[in-house]
Amino acid sequence: MTDNILELHGVSRSYAMRRGLFGHKIPIRAVDDVSLSVTEGRTLALVGESGSGKSTTGRIALGLERPNGGRVIFRGADLPPVDTLPWRRMRAQMQMIYQDPLAALDRRLAIVDQVQGPLDVHDVGSVSERRQKALAILDAVGLNASHASSLPHELSGGQRQRAVLARALVTEPLLLVCDEPVSALDVSIQAQVVNLLMDLQQDLGLSLLFISHDLKVVRHVSHDMAVMYLGRIVEYGETNLLLSQPAHPYTEALVSAVPAAGRRTRQRILLKGEPPNPAARPSGCTFHPRCPVARPVCASVCPPLATLPDGRKVACHAAHANPLSMKGEN
Ligand SMILES: Nc1ncnc2c1ncn2[C@@H]1O[C@H](COP(=O)(O)OP(=O)(O)OP(=O)(O)O)[C@@H](O)[C@H]1O
Ligand SMILES: [Mg+2]
Repeated sequence: MTDNILELHGVSRSYAMRRGLFGHKIPIRAVDDVSLSVTEGRTLALVGESGSGKSTTGRIALGLERPNGGRVIFRGADLPPVDTLPWRRMRAQMQMIYQDPLAALDRRLAIVDQVQGPLDVHDVGSVSERRQKALAILDAVGLNASHASSLPHELSGGQRQRAVLARALVTEPLLLVCDEPVSALDVSIQAQVVNLLMDLQQDLGLSLLFISHDLKVVRHVSHDMAVMYLGRIVEYGETNLLLSQPAHPYTEALVSAVPAAGRRTRQRILLKGEPPNPAARPSGCTFHPRCPVARPVCASVCPPLATLPDGRKVACHAAHANPLSMKGEN
């Protein structure tokens, strides 16, 4: 029996992209053979540059996007087809938090009505019980009766994201997929919302798939992290290990850009070459044109995501050829 609430097994998703004004359609692989798992009560962070396939992976995890290949297992069973009754029942247990709270809320409806909405849809309890529950969950995320009766534009960005959280939590989900949940907020507010998320995780035993390009936030919230590059996972393991001793040169470059308290300052690694473009995937290891330690094999052979002696997984010929040469800083 596994304590994984969510598992993705070899999941892939391609889109047809038109090239040029009259160009023919070419397939782009947004997500390419991704396997990961979210353990009950823990947080897995998905990190990587823009276009690396993080959001697509998150949508696939919730069944909002169908993969071309692979399996999504939620609580030990395959996700049912989208829009069927079993899927709708399951969806109440898995919720999504997006980057832009204003877009996620109905501008014409009071906050409390929006939080109560999912309970009304599922006809849970009496009307007054539903209202009590909505107010209680708003209170739990730090919003009072006056916020409850407000319209979304009358709240600050941080308060809106709290309202979105309340609406997601009202159905008592087990899994939250958070897609850049604090990127649109002021830095000072980010910490408050992140801390609230972590408190709620503790209190409710929530499992989180946390999508972010901000390693400072990832370090704070996540137990494990998966680093994506052009649709593939290139490194996967415990957050502390990856951030202190990155094994993949791409992870190392990302980590080098983040100042860390209590750690010797790393030399910032500036990656050469173009940012990743899924319409022009390099052969072999897709990172090799930008890689500071690329060797001839990297241009022709895609390295498998294989386990190192310390338990993390990494897809890099150099890291596997000589795992002991990894640069530790602790
Ligand atoms: N519905 C779609 N149709 C066509 N292409 C898509 C679609 N959704 C995503 N893509 C493409 O798939 C790739 C991965 O996109 P995705 O949004 O998952 O990346 P991301 O890592 O979340 O990026 P960001 O950090 O910018 O949010 C991109 O090249 C994107 O253009
Ligand atoms: Mg995204």
